[in-house]
Amino acid sequence: MVEMETLVSLCKRRGFIFQSSEIYGGINGFWDFGPAGVELKRRIKDSWWRQMVQQRDDVVGVDTSIIAHPRTWVASGHVASFSDPMVDCKECKKRFRADDMPVSKKHGEGRCPECGGELTEARSFNLMFETHVGATADSGSIAYLRPETCQSIFTQFKNVQVVSRKKVPFGIAQIGKAFRNEITPRNFIFRSREFEQMEMEFFCHADESEKWFEYWVNERYEWFKSIGIKPECLRLRPHEQDELAHYARGCSDVEYEMPFGWSEMEGIANRANYDLTQHMNESGKDMNYFDDARKEKFIPCVIETSVGVDRTALAVLCDAYREEDVKGEMRVVMGFDRSLAPVQVAVLPLSGKLREPADKLEKEMKKHFYSEYDDAGSIGKRYRRHDEIGTPYCVTYDFESETDHAVTVRNRDTMEQERISIDKVLDYLREKFEK
Ligand code: GAP
Repeated sequence: MVEMETLVSLCKRRGFIFQSSEIYGGINGFWDFGPAGVELKRRIKDSWWRQMVQQRDDVVGVDTSIIAHPRTWVASGHVASFSDPMVDCKECKKRFRADDMPVSKKHGEGRCPECGGELTEARSFNLMFETHVGATADSGSIAYLRPETCQSIFTQFKNVQVVSRKKVPFGIAQIGKAFRNEITPRNFIFRSREFEQMEMEFFCHADESEKWFEYWVNERYEWFKSIGIKPECLRLRPHEQDELAHYARGCSDVEYEMPFGWSEMEGIANRANYDLTQHMNESGKDMNYFDDARKEKFIPCVIETSVGVDRTALAVLCDAYREEDVKGEMRVVMGFDRSLAPVQVAVLPLSGKLREPADKLEKEMKKHFYSEYDDAGSIGKRYRRHDEIGTPYCVTYDFESETDHAVTVRNRDTMEQERISIDKVLDYLREKFEK
């Protein structure tokens, strides 16, 4: 299994992920995605959106604002209780999650794990980032950066249901940024303070909620396999009764075996009708739905599927990493599923003198694939770079191409090279990507 340090270094070297604000020494819990990383994330989001929204008739999408009316977060319970217990060191002022401390230090007794200083009592620390809306910065202008994307799906439930003319059961999906002032962000992009979520809220009748819960647990588990994650590194973990929120009727996590242990990627939860009821009570607006077929009015129950884009990207990166011994030299390969690869096809002229025809070929490739023209450095170095970016096919244009009108296609995984005629190369590659 790849060591995190090795992966972090590759991610920087190949432009997947940089520390945010690196030139200022970084800012803890924030990350920037580089040219390869942004493409990887985009492919993950596209796959999710296609499967959850575009290929279904019973889920529609929204894109809601990051800042919502602050009463949203009163209704959801976040203002009152979205908090972690924490302790501060009186000496070095460092802050720690009380949950992470050894039992003896959980309640603030004992000494700081960093400097040995005395710790304060455990206090609760709200994880929402506050900001102010408008010109005044008083208590009346406080707003929050959303800590999850789903709440505006609930508050817009009626509007979306009416305009989409969907009948319950149906779902509303959203991909977007969420923010949490995590006390101890860690494990690279696994727990950060700014991240993206892909959430879907599926509204159904209480009688059918059990059935839909099982259905979505299975769908979501299968999705991770469909993006190429090794099944042996995936598992489902149903929550114990004492882990469930008081309103929840069931919850299962999809976990991936990270280098730091089995970790939650996604939660699928049966939230009963708690969310819509809370917003109905707080806003005074009716959230009932009238079911023509049943001739019944009810507040729909919700099955939620909630997955982090960044966590999925980290699982995909860990899963794809492999080292191979090639004639005594180590080759590092990111063996991404072809559908997720940031660059699908790279066109490499053997020499700068071949720029023009290679460039022309690459322009043609661009119409069908995520392709890249690359002429910097020796061909060996370029192959190594594309192995580490995870490019499934490199197409090399050499001097012979001028006379035999053929190019060499190198397969990332087998390193086999095939000579393919230029007028057939598009079809050849298209067939590979369709498989
Ligand atoms: N609406 C439900 C909800 O937000 P959650 O378990 O708090 O549930 C759902 O978050 C998913 O969002 C997690 O499974 C994880 O993938 C992602 N996530 C949560 N906090 C995160 C963080 N600090 N950094 C990165 N991803 C996070």
